[in-house]
Amino acid sequence: MIQPNKPNTKLLILLAFFVYSFSAFAQSNSGAPQFNGPKITGNYPNTDFLFTVPVSGQKPISFKAENLPAGLSIDESTGIITGNVKEKGIYATTITATNAAGTNKQNITINIGDKLCLTPLMGWNTWNVFTYDISEKMLMEMADAMVSSGMRDLGYQYINIDDFWHADVREKNGKPKVDSVKFPHGMKYLSDYIHSKGLKLGIYSCAGTMTCGKRFGGYNYEEIDAKTYAEWGIDLLKYDYCFAPWGRKTAEERYTKMGTALKNSERSIVFSVCEWGIRKPWLWAKNTGGSYWRITPDIFDVWNHPAVWQYSVMAILKRAEKVSKYSFPGGWNDMDMMLVGNYGNGKATSANGMFKGLTDLEYESHMALWCLFNSPLLASCDLRTMNDATKNILTNSNLLNISQNTLGKSAKLVSKKNGIRMFEKELLGGAKIIAVLNYSEKEKSLKGYFNKKELSELNHAQNVLSGKNMSQSELETLNIKPHQTIIFKLTGK
Ligand code: GLA
Repeated sequence: MIQPNKPNTKLLILLAFFVYSFSAFAQSNSGAPQFNGPKITGNYPNTDFLFTVPVSGQKPISFKAENLPAGLSIDESTGIITGNVKEKGIYATTITATNAAGTNKQNITINIGDKLCLTPLMGWNTWNVFTYDISEKMLMEMADAMVSSGMRDLGYQYINIDDFWHADVREKNGKPKVDSVKFPHGMKYLSDYIHSKGLKLGIYSCAGTMTCGKRFGGYNYEEIDAKTYAEWGIDLLKYDYCFAPWGRKTAEERYTKMGTALKNSERSIVFSVCEWGIRKPWLWAKNTGGSYWRITPDIFDVWNHPAVWQYSVMAILKRAEKVSKYSFPGGWNDMDMMLVGNYGNGKATSANGMFKGLTDLEYESHMALWCLFNSPLLASCDLRTMNDATKNILTNSNLLNISQNTLGKSAKLVSKKNGIRMFEKELLGGAKIIAVLNYSEKEKSLKGYFNKKELSELNHAQNVLSGKNMSQSELETLNIKPHQTIIFKLTGK
């Protein structure tokens, strides 16, 4: 008698493992070239320009550019565009990317003018996990990991050093001085390395006499600092507000002083304002030269912990909902660094191990909310050792496209009842995002949550996080776990 083939368990496990690993990697390493990340980039005239065209797909990929403004050229094997454009202008450039699986084209706008950060900034920051424990070696490895993980192909570009890069005191002539044990070759050596990878380097200082970690501050040294940062090849400054007077007027003056010094530094340096949302920076930080401003105190690795509520993901979300109308291209509400992958191990975010971190579902929701509200996206976990779940969340290209949409409109809260929040966000070209967050502690089975019109629209919509369409019956009874966010993209008919 013929026996039906018995499934070979070992083979099945091996196959499942292969499919799993491959799908985790597939997003950035297979298929025809796919353009991701920003489709617009800004730089000041007459300053160094660097932009890596973010393209995923099977490697190697070759690049060609049409109509690049005079002064720029593209590296055909990496897609890194460098140079210096003298004339202000909006330059429509077409990039062609080709690999063994196909060819794709994308229009990229190069805006040479007075704005940086025309889409929310994407990158990585040392603070959440490492705090003071930083070094040149670790930063170089992190840049390597940003490339090898495929994050650069998704649009991540900045490697930002936070507090504790400083020597004990400045140079005798007042110039800022780097800790020579942590950075034995100096900052320029590090920025050259970061730039050679097509990435940019950020640094940190403070509008007070000292930084929050009690290193030397920037107050009264604004010009010499900005000039030195430019010499070092720095591309971003996060400017904190410890050891400084309380009032808003003084804060505005101090931020303006540094913002102006950066503008005069002959380099395109992004200015990140960090006074924790205390003085309503969404009303004034843009005028100081800021490209984004923190709207809340420091984030902790908690979803909604009552003991530290104001540092939780939910508290930050609530603030972002209230100030969403003050967010626009070149001036974003900063919801703080992302916790994804911290798992309660962040030196800063776990309060010395007190908080155990979010679940992966919560990390996914947290990142989705940051994308919906156009926050800068600064990962802050150890990219060298991140697990697949973390990597998949940070490199979800559907989600990142919502953040990097050129229209630059933040999501809005449209309803809030029975533990469910609903958000809407407009995208360029008339597409619309609908997102539903279950912020309650119970799984919800929502029968008839959407009205007839919404249902018929959603029936054709993509589920952004999973990349799949949902069936009519799934939509009629929406099952949503506690703290889960479901996002639909409606492309219209
Ligand atoms: C403040 C900021 C943090 C971090 C630390 C560094 O608390 O809000 O993001 O930069 O200072 O000391």
